[in-house]
Amino acid sequence: MNQDQLKQAVGQAAVDLLLPDLEDSSIIGIGTGSTANCFIDALAKHKGFFDGAVASSEATAARLKEHGIPVYELNNVFELAFYIDGADETNRHLELIKGGGAALTREKIVAAVAKTFICIADDSKLVDTLGSFPLPVEVIPMARSHVAREIVKLGGDPVYRDGCVTDNGNVILDVHNMQIHDPRKLEDQLNSIVGVVCNGLFAHRPADILLLGTSSGVETLK
Ligand code: 5RP
Repeated sequence: MNQDQLKQAVGQAAVDLLLPDLEDSSIIGIGTGSTANCFIDALAKHKGFFDGAVASSEATAARLKEHGIPVYELNNVFELAFYIDGADETNRHLELIKGGGAALTREKIVAAVAKTFICIADDSKLVDTLGSFPLPVEVIPMARSHVAREIVKLGGDPVYRDGCVTDNGNVILDVHNMQIHDPRKLEDQLNSIVGVVCNGLFAHRPADILLLGTSSGVETLK
C-alpha cells in the first residue's frame, strides 16, 4: 500500500471505531490535513448517524460543509466525545508533533475539549524521538523576531514559514534540529515565551488512541 492508501485505511478504521458509539446528538471534533480529509470522506457516508462536527480549521469546515455535514462553533457545544486528527510525528507514548498544516492552535483547543482523542497516521509518522519533523510554533506577528531569538536559546533553529498566515491571523516558526527528549518540558518552555500563541507539541494532552496504518493492516496503540 502506498501512503495515500494507508491514510484512507486509517480514516476508515477511525469511522469503524466511532460508529457503534455515535448517536443522533453526537458532535465530533475533526482535525486538519490529508489524513483527516480521508476520515471526513469516509464519515460522510454515515452522516445520518450523528448531528455534526466541530472543525479545527477553515479548510476542514469547508470540506465538511461540502459533504453536507453541519459545522458547529466550539463555544456552542457542550461536550465532544471524540476528536479525530492526523499528526506529523508520534512517539509510542502517543505524544505528537502537529501543525504542519498550520492549524495547531485550534487543533489543540478542540483536542482539549474532547473526551477521547483518536490520532490517525501512516507508519512513516511513528518515531522513537520527536523532532525530526520541524516543530511548528504559532506566533503573534510582531513578536516573531523576539520569539525566534528565545527559541535559539533553547537550542532550536527557527525558520519563518514564508507566506503562511494561520486562521487566527498569526505566523508560524518551524523549529528545526531539536531532538525532543522531554516533550512536556519543551511544550511548557515554548508556551512561556511572550508572543507564542501555541506550539505543536501535544504532550500534556497526547492522543488516547493511535490508529497506525501499516502495510500489514491498521494497528491500534493505546
Ligand atoms: C495540521 C496537522 C496535521 O494533522 C498534520 O500536518 C498531518 O497532516 P497530514 O495528515 O496531511 O500528513 O497537524 O496542522
